[in-house]
Amino acid sequence: MIQPHGGKLVNKIISEDRIPKNVTVLTLNEREKNDLEMIGCGAMSPLEGFMTGSDYNSVVEKMRLENGIVWTLPVVFSLKEDDPQVAVGDTVVLRYQDEIRGMMEVEDIFKADLMHEARETLLTDDEHHPGVQYLKELSGSYIGGKINALDLRDEEPFRDHRLIPEETRILFNKKGWKSIVAFQTRNPIHRAHEYLQKVSLEMVDGLLIHPLVGATKADDIPADVRMKCYETILEKYYPSDRTALSVFPAAMRYAGPREAVFHAILRKNYGCTHFIVGRDHAGVGDYYGTYDAQVIFDNFTPEEIDIIPLKFEHAFYCNACDGMATARTCPHTGADRVFLSGKKVRAMLNDGILPPPEFTRPEIAQILMDAVAK
Ligand code: ADX
Repeated sequence: MIQPHGGKLVNKIISEDRIPKNVTVLTLNEREKNDLEMIGCGAMSPLEGFMTGSDYNSVVEKMRLENGIVWTLPVVFSLKEDDPQVAVGDTVVLRYQDEIRGMMEVEDIFKADLMHEARETLLTDDEHHPGVQYLKELSGSYIGGKINALDLRDEEPFRDHRLIPEETRILFNKKGWKSIVAFQTRNPIHRAHEYLQKVSLEMVDGLLIHPLVGATKADDIPADVRMKCYETILEKYYPSDRTALSVFPAAMRYAGPREAVFHAILRKNYGCTHFIVGRDHAGVGDYYGTYDAQVIFDNFTPEEIDIIPLKFEHAFYCNACDGMATARTCPHTGADRVFLSGKKVRAMLNDGILPPPEFTRPEIAQILMDAVAK
């Protein structure tokens, strides 16, 4: 089985009785709540907590932790305006809304230049970028330190599909899969997704469909609708002995290239050996070049990343080929190729028009239509 990033699968899950009483309570925002769950269960191995200043600066500037291990995005906890004073050496409890979620040993409190972080990690400081919008809301002070997290999965949605890395690794072992391709997604499944997954499945033993269900921007399709799409399509169009569905409870950063590497490394922690990177992976608007999220992998040696990126060109249905294809396999022109942007699909659904079967399976189109009609 593939080694976790950094060599050891972290486990920082504790039971409720280990949470200290009468200590300072700090507030998690939604992304930080997601990150706490991800660090706690080992999905972010080798991270054992929120980043200290030295790791943060190293990640922002060099795409590596201070010890040299590849890591492309900050994982940080921000001091909120109403939070009480804390000092290095304190133990603090972390709360999201009204619920205690974990604790942290405060190792570092540091100031960050958030727009510098934006330019380096998101490659823009344009306020229309959702990742920049997120940063603009923060105080500019981060608190770093090791965490412990409660396992609150019983209270979270998709409980049956909320496997932690230890469990996906056991699952792959049980199924006898030696090579496993992971598919990251934040959108309802369409034919191009299915094509990428099935082409990959021709080459490896198993497919882990791993939809992101943490914080996303407001106009992305809600996770429950997307999960319904996946459950429906898996039942009808996928080989059950070669496919698994589980959720990836991370927040979306919309960081394009850097997030592609981040997504790949985290899937390695879940035990996957291959990772699909298609067109404009984790992109938004036109901030990134179509294949920038593939090119970024060239900055690292294959051994450093270990999980193998499977890079795909823009896939589409071609009427002349009468099937799915990319420019690598189809000689026809744009007029034969069915391409619908997310915006166009939303407009069709709003007008009560089902997207065509060349774009998405009819069963999925119907689920999306029902969701819009609600
Ligand atoms: S993402 O933010 O999670 O990347 P999305 O769910 O749309 O968004 O994409 C999931 C994966 O499929 C990404 O690797 C993306 O690059 C790839 N992808 C989506 N649509 C296409 C397409 N038409 N052709 C090739 N790759 C695609």
